[in-house]
Amino acid sequence: MTTSIAIERVETSKITAVDFDNLPFGSVYSDHMLTCDFVNGKWQAPKIEPFAPISLAPSAKIFHYGQSIFEGMKAYKDADNNIMLFRPLDNCKRLNKSAQRLVIPEIPEEIFMDGLKALLEVDSDWIPTNDGSSLYIRPFMFASGNGFHASPADAYKFIICTAPSGAYFGGKVKVLIEEKYARAANGGVGYAKAGGNYAAQFYPTQLAIEKGFNQVIWTDDNTHQFIEEAGAMNIFVRINDTLITSPTSDRILDGITRKSILQIAEDNGIETEVRKISVGEVVEAAKNGSLKEMFGAGTAAVISPIAGFGHKEDEFELPVLEKPYATILKKMITDIQTNKAEDPYGWRVFV
Ligand code: PLP
Ligand code: COI
Repeated sequence: MTTSIAIERVETSKITAVDFDNLPFGSVYSDHMLTCDFVNGKWQAPKIEPFAPISLAPSAKIFHYGQSIFEGMKAYKDADNNIMLFRPLDNCKRLNKSAQRLVIPEIPEEIFMDGLKALLEVDSDWIPTNDGSSLYIRPFMFASGNGFHASPADAYKFIICTAPSGAYFGGKVKVLIEEKYARAANGGVGYAKAGGNYAAQFYPTQLAIEKGFNQVIWTDDNTHQFIEEAGAMNIFVRINDTLITSPTSDRILDGITRKSILQIAEDNGIETEVRKISVGEVVEAAKNGSLKEMFGAGTAAVISPIAGFGHKEDEFELPVLEKPYATILKKMITDIQTNKAEDPYGWRVFV
Protein backbone atom coordinates (compact mmCIF):
# COMPACT_ATOMS: atom_id res chain seq x y z
CA MET A 1 0.00 0.00 0.00
CA THR A 2 1.41 3.37 -0.97
CA THR A 3 -1.39 5.66 0.21
CA SER A 4 -1.03 7.04 3.70
CA ILE A 5 -4.35 6.78 5.52
CA ALA A 6 -5.09 8.22 8.96
CA ILE A 7 -7.39 5.95 10.95
CA GLU A 8 -9.72 7.09 13.71
CA ARG A 9 -11.51 4.11 15.20
CA VAL A 10 -14.91 4.05 16.90
CA GLU A 11 -14.84 3.90 20.69
CA THR A 12 -17.55 1.24 20.80
CA SER A 13 -18.51 -0.95 17.87
CA LYS A 14 -22.20 -1.24 16.91
CA ILE A 15 -21.68 -4.77 15.68
CA THR A 16 -23.20 -6.57 18.66
CA ALA A 17 -26.60 -5.05 17.78
CA VAL A 18 -26.56 -6.58 14.29
CA ASP A 19 -28.47 -9.78 13.50
CA PHE A 20 -26.24 -11.33 10.85
CA ASP A 21 -28.82 -14.08 10.23
CA ASN A 22 -31.44 -11.57 9.11
CA LEU A 23 -29.63 -8.91 7.18
CA PRO A 24 -31.61 -6.41 5.12
CA PHE A 25 -30.03 -4.97 1.97
CA GLY A 26 -28.00 -1.80 2.43
CA SER A 27 -29.55 -0.33 5.55
CA VAL A 28 -27.27 -1.46 8.38
CA TYR A 29 -23.92 0.31 8.22
CA SER A 30 -20.51 -0.80 9.41
CA ASP A 31 -18.57 1.17 12.01
CA HIS A 32 -16.26 3.11 9.69
CA MET A 33 -16.15 4.99 6.42
CA LEU A 34 -13.36 6.22 4.19
CA THR A 35 -13.46 9.88 3.20
CA CYS A 36 -11.28 11.85 0.85
CA ASP A 37 -11.61 15.49 -0.21
CA PHE A 38 -10.80 17.11 -3.50
CA VAL A 39 -9.83 20.70 -2.71
CA ASN A 40 -7.39 23.19 -4.23
CA GLY A 41 -7.28 21.16 -7.42
CA LYS A 42 -6.18 17.87 -5.89
CA TRP A 43 -7.31 14.84 -3.96
CA GLN A 44 -6.06 15.05 -0.37
CA ALA A 45 -4.99 12.15 1.86
CA PRO A 46 -7.90 9.80 2.62
CA LYS A 47 -9.05 9.13 6.19
CA ILE A 48 -10.89 6.30 7.85
CA GLU A 49 -13.26 7.58 10.50
CA PRO A 50 -16.40 6.50 12.36
CA PHE A 51 -19.49 6.25 10.11
CA ALA A 52 -21.34 9.48 10.91
CA PRO A 53 -23.33 12.29 9.27
CA ILE A 54 -21.30 14.69 7.16
CA SER A 55 -21.69 18.44 7.11
CA LEU A 56 -22.35 20.35 3.88
CA ALA A 57 -23.48 23.90 3.20
CA PRO A 58 -26.98 24.24 1.69
CA SER A 59 -25.23 25.83 -1.28
CA ALA A 60 -23.23 22.65 -2.05
CA LYS A 61 -23.70 21.92 -5.73
CA ILE A 62 -24.72 18.32 -5.16
CA PHE A 63 -28.08 19.63 -3.88
CA HIS A 64 -28.72 21.83 -6.87
CA TYR A 65 -27.14 20.27 -9.91
CA GLY A 66 -26.86 16.62 -8.94
CA GLN A 67 -23.17 16.05 -9.60
CA SER A 68 -23.13 12.69 -7.92
CA ILE A 69 -21.96 9.23 -8.96
CA PHE A 70 -21.53 5.92 -7.21
CA GLU A 71 -20.44 2.31 -7.47
CA GLY A 72 -21.68 -0.95 -6.01
CA MET A 73 -19.33 -3.73 -4.98
CA LYS A 74 -19.21 -6.59 -2.50
CA ALA A 75 -16.61 -8.10 -0.16
CA TYR A 76 -16.71 -11.75 0.84
CA LYS A 77 -14.94 -13.82 3.48
CA ASP A 78 -13.99 -17.46 2.95
CA ALA A 79 -13.72 -20.29 5.51
CA ASP A 80 -10.13 -19.22 6.30
CA ASN A 81 -11.15 -15.60 6.91
CA ASN A 82 -9.56 -14.37 3.70
CA ILE A 83 -11.27 -11.21 2.47
CA MET A 84 -12.04 -11.09 -1.23
CA LEU A 85 -13.26 -8.53 -3.74
CA PHE A 86 -14.58 -9.26 -7.23
CA ARG A 87 -13.00 -7.38 -10.16
CA PRO A 88 -12.59 -4.21 -8.06
CA LEU A 89 -10.48 -2.37 -10.62
CA ASP A 90 -13.41 -2.55 -13.02
CA ASN A 91 -15.49 -0.62 -10.48
CA CYS A 92 -12.74 1.96 -10.10
CA LYS A 93 -12.50 2.36 -13.87
CA ARG A 94 -16.27 2.66 -14.22
CA LEU A 95 -16.43 5.22 -11.41
CA ASN A 96 -13.90 7.30 -13.28
CA LYS A 97 -15.83 6.90 -16.53
CA SER A 98 -18.90 8.22 -14.71
CA ALA A 99 -16.74 10.98 -13.18
CA GLN A 100 -15.59 12.11 -16.59
CA ARG A 101 -19.17 12.37 -17.85
CA LEU A 102 -20.30 14.37 -14.81
CA VAL A 103 -17.16 16.56 -14.77
CA ILE A 104 -16.07 15.23 -11.39
CA PRO A 105 -12.29 14.82 -10.94
CA GLU A 106 -11.23 11.20 -11.36
CA ILE A 107 -10.18 9.37 -8.20
CA PRO A 108 -6.64 7.96 -8.41
CA GLU A 109 -6.69 4.15 -8.53
CA GLU A 110 -4.33 3.92 -5.51
CA ILE A 111 -6.66 5.97 -3.30
CA PHE A 112 -9.61 3.85 -4.39
CA MET A 113 -7.91 0.48 -3.95
CA ASP A 114 -5.69 1.24 -0.93
CA GLY A 115 -8.55 3.09 0.79
CA LEU A 116 -11.00 0.28 0.16
CA LYS A 117 -8.61 -2.42 1.35
CA ALA A 118 -7.73 -0.46 4.51
CA LEU A 119 -11.43 0.10 5.26
CA LEU A 120 -12.16 -3.61 4.82
CA GLU A 121 -9.34 -4.50 7.17
CA VAL A 122 -10.63 -2.10 9.84
CA ASP A 123 -14.22 -3.41 9.49
CA SER A 124 -13.37 -7.01 8.65
CA ASP A 125 -15.67 -8.33 11.39
CA TRP A 126 -18.57 -6.80 9.47
CA ILE A 127 -18.13 -9.07 6.47
CA PRO A 128 -20.87 -11.69 6.72
CA THR A 129 -20.02 -15.32 6.20
CA ASN A 130 -23.52 -16.81 5.89
CA ASP A 131 -24.56 -18.04 2.47
CA GLY A 132 -26.18 -15.32 0.39
CA SER A 133 -24.87 -12.45 2.53
CA SER A 134 -21.90 -10.21 1.88
CA LEU A 135 -20.56 -6.79 2.73
CA TYR A 136 -22.09 -4.40 0.23
CA ILE A 137 -19.68 -1.58 -0.59
CA ARG A 138 -20.83 1.82 -1.76
CA PRO A 139 -18.07 4.09 -3.07
CA PHE A 140 -19.44 7.47 -4.19
CA MET A 141 -18.33 10.96 -5.21
CA PHE A 142 -20.23 14.21 -5.23
CA ALA A 143 -19.88 17.98 -5.51
CA SER A 144 -19.29 19.43 -2.05
CA GLY A 145 -18.20 22.83 -3.41
CA ASN A 146 -20.65 25.68 -3.23
CA GLY A 147 -22.47 28.02 -5.57
CA PHE A 148 -25.71 28.53 -7.45
CA HIS A 149 -23.87 29.03 -10.71
CA ALA A 150 -24.80 26.07 -12.92
CA SER A 151 -21.28 24.83 -13.51
CA PRO A 152 -19.06 22.13 -12.04
CA ALA A 153 -18.07 22.57 -8.38
CA ASP A 154 -14.54 23.31 -7.20
CA ALA A 155 -14.62 20.74 -4.38
CA TYR A 156 -15.70 17.10 -4.18
CA LYS A 157 -15.90 14.29 -1.70
CA PHE A 158 -15.12 10.63 -2.28
CA ILE A 159 -16.58 8.36 0.39
CA ILE A 160 -16.78 4.62 0.82
CA CYS A 161 -19.37 3.18 3.23
CA THR A 162 -20.19 -0.46 3.71
CA ALA A 163 -23.28 -2.37 4.76
CA PRO A 164 -23.50 -6.06 5.65
CA SER A 165 -26.35 -7.15 3.42
CA GLY A 166 -28.66 -9.97 2.48
CA ALA A 167 -30.62 -10.40 -0.73
CA TYR A 168 -31.66 -7.33 -2.73
CA PHE A 169 -35.07 -8.74 -3.66
CA GLY A 170 -37.29 -10.16 -0.96
CA GLY A 171 -39.55 -12.38 -3.04
CA LYS A 172 -40.50 -13.15 -6.60
CA VAL A 173 -39.42 -10.61 -9.16
CA LYS A 174 -42.10 -9.46 -11.57
CA VAL A 175 -41.15 -6.87 -14.14
CA LEU A 176 -43.08 -4.51 -16.36
CA ILE A 177 -41.75 -3.78 -19.83
CA GLU A 178 -41.88 0.01 -20.06
CA GLU A 179 -43.56 1.58 -23.04
CA LYS A 180 -43.82 5.25 -22.10
CA TYR A 181 -40.99 6.48 -19.88
CA ALA A 182 -37.31 6.12 -20.64
CA ARG A 183 -34.34 5.63 -18.33
CA ALA A 184 -31.72 6.96 -20.72
CA ALA A 185 -31.33 8.58 -24.09
CA ASN A 186 -28.70 8.53 -26.81
CA GLY A 187 -25.91 10.87 -25.87
CA GLY A 188 -27.11 11.03 -22.28
CA VAL A 189 -25.72 9.64 -19.04
CA GLY A 190 -27.32 6.17 -19.03
CA TYR A 191 -23.95 4.40 -19.07
CA ALA A 192 -22.80 6.33 -15.99
CA LYS A 193 -23.74 5.40 -12.45
CA ALA A 194 -25.09 8.87 -11.85
CA GLY A 195 -27.46 9.32 -8.93
CA GLY A 196 -29.92 11.16 -11.16
CA ASN A 197 -30.39 8.08 -13.36
CA TYR A 198 -31.89 6.32 -10.38
CA ALA A 199 -34.00 9.26 -9.19
CA ALA A 200 -35.52 9.47 -12.67
CA GLN A 201 -36.60 5.84 -12.44
CA PHE A 202 -38.48 6.14 -9.19
CA TYR A 203 -41.70 7.60 -10.61
CA PRO A 204 -42.23 5.06 -13.44
CA THR A 205 -41.18 2.29 -11.03
CA GLN A 206 -43.72 3.52 -8.50
CA LEU A 207 -46.41 3.29 -11.21
CA ALA A 208 -45.26 -0.25 -12.00
CA ILE A 209 -45.36 -1.20 -8.31
CA GLU A 210 -48.94 0.08 -8.12
CA LYS A 211 -49.76 -2.36 -10.92
CA GLY A 212 -48.21 -5.27 -8.97
CA PHE A 213 -44.72 -5.36 -10.49
CA ASN A 214 -41.50 -4.69 -8.65
CA GLN A 215 -39.11 -3.51 -11.38
CA VAL A 216 -39.32 -1.86 -14.74
CA ILE A 217 -37.55 -3.26 -17.76
CA TRP A 218 -36.39 -0.24 -19.69
CA THR A 219 -36.77 -0.17 -23.42
CA ASP A 220 -35.00 2.13 -25.89
CA ASP A 221 -36.21 5.70 -25.54
CA ASN A 222 -36.81 6.08 -29.25
CA THR A 223 -39.15 3.22 -30.16
CA HIS A 224 -39.71 1.29 -26.89
CA GLN A 225 -39.32 -1.82 -29.02
CA PHE A 226 -36.02 -3.11 -27.65
CA ILE A 227 -35.19 -4.33 -24.17
CA GLU A 228 -32.33 -2.47 -22.54
CA GLU A 229 -31.89 -3.20 -18.82
CA ALA A 230 -33.69 -2.99 -15.49
CA GLY A 231 -33.38 -0.31 -12.84
CA ALA A 232 -30.59 -1.96 -10.91
CA MET A 233 -29.45 -4.82 -13.12
CA ASN A 234 -28.74 -5.95 -16.67
CA ILE A 235 -31.20 -8.35 -18.23
CA PHE A 236 -30.70 -11.81 -19.73
CA VAL A 237 -33.33 -13.66 -21.72
CA ARG A 238 -33.17 -17.37 -22.53
CA ILE A 239 -34.98 -18.41 -25.67
CA ASN A 240 -34.82 -22.18 -26.13
CA ASP A 241 -31.21 -22.88 -25.07
CA THR A 242 -29.66 -19.56 -26.06
CA LEU A 243 -28.87 -16.92 -23.47
CA ILE A 244 -29.26 -13.43 -24.88
CA THR A 245 -28.43 -10.01 -23.50
CA SER A 246 -28.50 -6.57 -25.07
CA PRO A 247 -25.25 -4.95 -26.14
CA THR A 248 -24.10 -2.13 -23.89
CA SER A 249 -24.34 1.37 -25.29
CA ASP A 250 -24.30 4.91 -24.00
CA ARG A 251 -27.74 4.20 -22.55
CA ILE A 252 -26.91 0.95 -20.72
CA LEU A 253 -24.64 0.32 -17.76
CA ASP A 254 -21.70 -1.91 -18.63
CA GLY A 255 -22.39 -4.35 -15.80
CA ILE A 256 -19.51 -6.30 -14.31
CA THR A 257 -21.83 -9.18 -13.42
CA ARG A 258 -23.21 -9.15 -16.98
CA LYS A 259 -19.82 -9.50 -18.62
CA SER A 260 -18.70 -12.14 -16.09
CA ILE A 261 -21.82 -14.21 -16.73
CA LEU A 262 -21.33 -14.00 -20.47
CA GLN A 263 -17.77 -15.29 -20.05
CA ILE A 264 -18.73 -18.10 -17.66
CA ALA A 265 -21.67 -19.17 -19.83
CA GLU A 266 -19.55 -19.26 -22.99
CA ASP A 267 -16.83 -21.25 -21.25
CA ASN A 268 -19.35 -23.77 -19.95
CA GLY A 269 -21.08 -24.65 -23.17
CA ILE A 270 -24.04 -22.28 -22.93
CA GLU A 271 -24.71 -20.58 -26.22
CA THR A 272 -24.80 -16.83 -25.80
CA GLU A 273 -25.80 -13.95 -28.02
CA VAL A 274 -25.17 -10.26 -27.45
CA ARG A 275 -27.68 -8.52 -29.65
CA LYS A 276 -30.70 -6.31 -29.61
CA ILE A 277 -33.69 -8.09 -28.09
CA SER A 278 -37.03 -6.93 -29.37
CA VAL A 279 -40.02 -6.77 -27.07
CA GLY A 280 -42.03 -8.44 -29.84
CA GLU A 281 -39.80 -11.49 -29.92
CA VAL A 282 -39.90 -11.89 -26.13
CA VAL A 283 -43.70 -11.66 -26.10
CA GLU A 284 -43.91 -14.08 -29.01
CA ALA A 285 -41.49 -16.49 -27.30
CA ALA A 286 -43.55 -16.29 -24.10
CA LYS A 287 -46.66 -17.17 -26.10
CA ASN A 288 -45.13 -20.09 -28.01
CA GLY A 289 -43.24 -21.53 -25.04
CA SER A 290 -39.70 -20.89 -26.29
CA LEU A 291 -39.07 -18.25 -23.63
CA LYS A 292 -37.51 -20.36 -20.90
CA GLU A 293 -35.98 -17.82 -18.53
CA MET A 294 -35.39 -14.19 -17.83
CA PHE A 295 -33.10 -12.97 -15.12
CA GLY A 296 -31.44 -9.83 -13.89
CA ALA A 297 -27.71 -9.62 -13.17
CA GLY A 298 -25.95 -7.11 -10.99
CA THR A 299 -23.79 -6.75 -7.91
CA ALA A 300 -26.73 -6.16 -5.57
CA ALA A 301 -29.14 -8.44 -7.44
CA VAL A 302 -26.47 -11.15 -8.11
CA ILE A 303 -28.60 -13.27 -10.47
CA SER A 304 -32.29 -12.68 -9.80
CA PRO A 305 -34.70 -14.90 -11.69
CA ILE A 306 -37.75 -13.15 -13.11
CA ALA A 307 -40.96 -14.99 -12.39
CA GLY A 308 -43.13 -13.09 -14.82
CA PHE A 309 -43.46 -9.95 -16.87
CA GLY A 310 -46.10 -7.54 -17.98
CA HIS A 311 -46.38 -5.89 -21.35
CA LYS A 312 -49.17 -3.46 -22.15
CA GLU A 313 -52.30 -5.16 -20.76
CA ASP A 314 -50.86 -8.68 -20.88
CA GLU A 315 -49.04 -10.64 -18.20
CA PHE A 316 -46.83 -13.63 -18.78
CA GLU A 317 -45.46 -16.20 -16.36
CA LEU A 318 -42.09 -17.78 -16.90
CA PRO A 319 -41.92 -21.59 -16.65
CA VAL A 320 -40.37 -23.22 -13.57
CA LEU A 321 -37.41 -25.24 -14.84
CA GLU A 322 -35.57 -28.06 -13.18
CA LYS A 323 -32.10 -26.72 -13.94
CA PRO A 324 -32.38 -23.07 -14.92
CA TYR A 325 -29.34 -21.31 -16.28
CA ALA A 326 -29.92 -18.72 -13.56
CA THR A 327 -29.25 -21.27 -10.82
CA ILE A 328 -26.28 -22.85 -12.59
CA LEU A 329 -24.64 -19.51 -13.40
CA LYS A 330 -25.37 -18.02 -9.99
CA LYS A 331 -23.59 -20.92 -8.31
CA MET A 332 -20.63 -20.62 -10.63
CA ILE A 333 -20.17 -16.89 -10.15
CA THR A 334 -20.75 -16.87 -6.39
CA ASP A 335 -18.39 -19.85 -5.95
CA ILE A 336 -15.69 -17.80 -7.65
CA GLN A 337 -16.54 -14.72 -5.60
CA THR A 338 -16.46 -16.61 -2.29
CA ASN A 339 -13.38 -18.73 -3.04
CA LYS A 340 -15.30 -22.01 -3.23
CA ALA A 341 -14.15 -22.64 -6.80
CA GLU A 342 -11.09 -22.07 -8.93
CA ASP A 343 -10.93 -18.62 -10.48
CA PRO A 344 -9.47 -19.22 -13.95
CA TYR A 345 -10.06 -15.58 -14.86
CA GLY A 346 -8.14 -13.87 -12.06
CA TRP A 347 -11.26 -11.93 -11.03
CA ARG A 348 -10.93 -12.56 -7.30
CA VAL A 349 -8.76 -10.05 -5.48
CA PHE A 350 -7.57 -10.83 -1.95
CA VAL A 351 -7.41 -7.93 0.48
N1 PLP B 1 -27.61 -1.73 -14.53
C1 PLP B 1 -27.84 -0.80 -13.58
C2 PLP B 1 -28.70 0.35 -13.94
C3 PLP B 1 -27.25 -0.91 -12.32
O1 PLP B 1 -27.46 0.02 -11.38
C4 PLP B 1 -26.43 -2.02 -12.05
C5 PLP B 1 -25.77 -2.15 -10.76
O2 PLP B 1 -24.69 -1.75 -10.52
C6 PLP B 1 -26.21 -2.96 -13.06
C7 PLP B 1 -26.83 -2.79 -14.28
C8 PLP B 1 -25.30 -4.13 -12.86
O3 PLP B 1 -23.95 -3.73 -12.83
P1 PLP B 1 -22.88 -4.54 -11.99
O4 PLP B 1 -23.01 -5.95 -12.41
O5 PLP B 1 -21.58 -3.95 -12.38
O6 PLP B 1 -23.21 -4.34 -10.57
C1 COI C 1 -25.43 -2.52 -7.49
O1 COI C 1 -25.87 -3.57 -7.93
O2 COI C 1 -24.40 -2.49 -6.82
C2 COI C 1 -26.07 -1.24 -7.72
O3 COI C 1 -25.40 -0.25 -7.67
C3 COI C 1 -27.52 -1.17 -7.93
C4 COI C 1 -28.11 -0.32 -6.86
C5 COI C 1 -29.22 0.49 -7.40
C6 COI C 1 -28.51 -1.11 -5.66
